[in-house]
Amino acid sequence: MIILNKGSLLRQILRRCHNEVAACSKVSSPLTAFFGKWPEAEQQEFVQHMRIIPDFISEAEEQQLHEEVEPYMNRLRYEFDHWDDAIHGFRETERKKWYPHNRDVLERVRQVAFDGAIMPYIHVLDLAADGVIKPHVDSTRYCGTTISGISLLSDSVMRLVRTDAQKYQQPSTEIATEAKSPDSDAVYGHRRFPEAFLEDGFYADLLLPRRSLYIMCHTARYNFTHEILAKEQSVFLGTPIPKARRISIICRNDP
Ligand code: OGA
Ligand code: MN
Repeated sequence: MIILNKGSLLRQILRRCHNEVAACSKVSSPLTAFFGKWPEAEQQEFVQHMRIIPDFISEAEEQQLHEEVEPYMNRLRYEFDHWDDAIHGFRETERKKWYPHNRDVLERVRQVAFDGAIMPYIHVLDLAADGVIKPHVDSTRYCGTTISGISLLSDSVMRLVRTDAQKYQQPSTEIATEAKSPDSDAVYGHRRFPEAFLEDGFYADLLLPRRSLYIMCHTARYNFTHEILAKEQSVFLGTPIPKARRISIICRNDP
């Protein structure tokens, strides 16, 4: 009897080891591609501050999150019309009350991605297959050091391009900049459009697999613009990444 128990314990341990090895080998497939001349220190910092956790949620959890937001989303229309907006082909909402099983997932996000509390309203962004999120920095006035996103329904490629650093860290500077130079540093809602330097600077492409969680904080959040590439440009390390309709569940903390 005792031997039998030991045997099953051993099997459990072996199974767990096997699962962990399998999980590790998944993590090690590269999800970040660097372009341009990255200063060594900056690249090291970036890797810490822009993380992707593949398979953060299970297929069942993806379905449950989708089922909760779908009836509401379906009532909204995709917005394509404003040429100067950060996002084309999207509908969005904010949701405070979640079904208990989905709240559990969000609590897991909080524990993994945040030091403390997250904003009570969770942002749900539904991007159509032919939608695009153009380069922007989330306003430092409306959100804090960390932005995390779960991707539902589709893989996508997110690009982070180095931009002018100091300007975006002080809300007071931001207000001053807003008034002075609306063309080069425009503000639309909570998203800002600082000038990014794709040619002279350096940037990274990140593969965001369906059901992954990304955690963008500190340097990645303040010193880089982020964007989701349009389906025509949706390529990672030379491999086309088909982008279908994608819903992201985005948690942020307070400034
Ligand atoms: C945003 C944004 C990214 C995402 O809404 O400001 O950048 O993952 N979203 O959908
Ligand atoms: Mn954003």
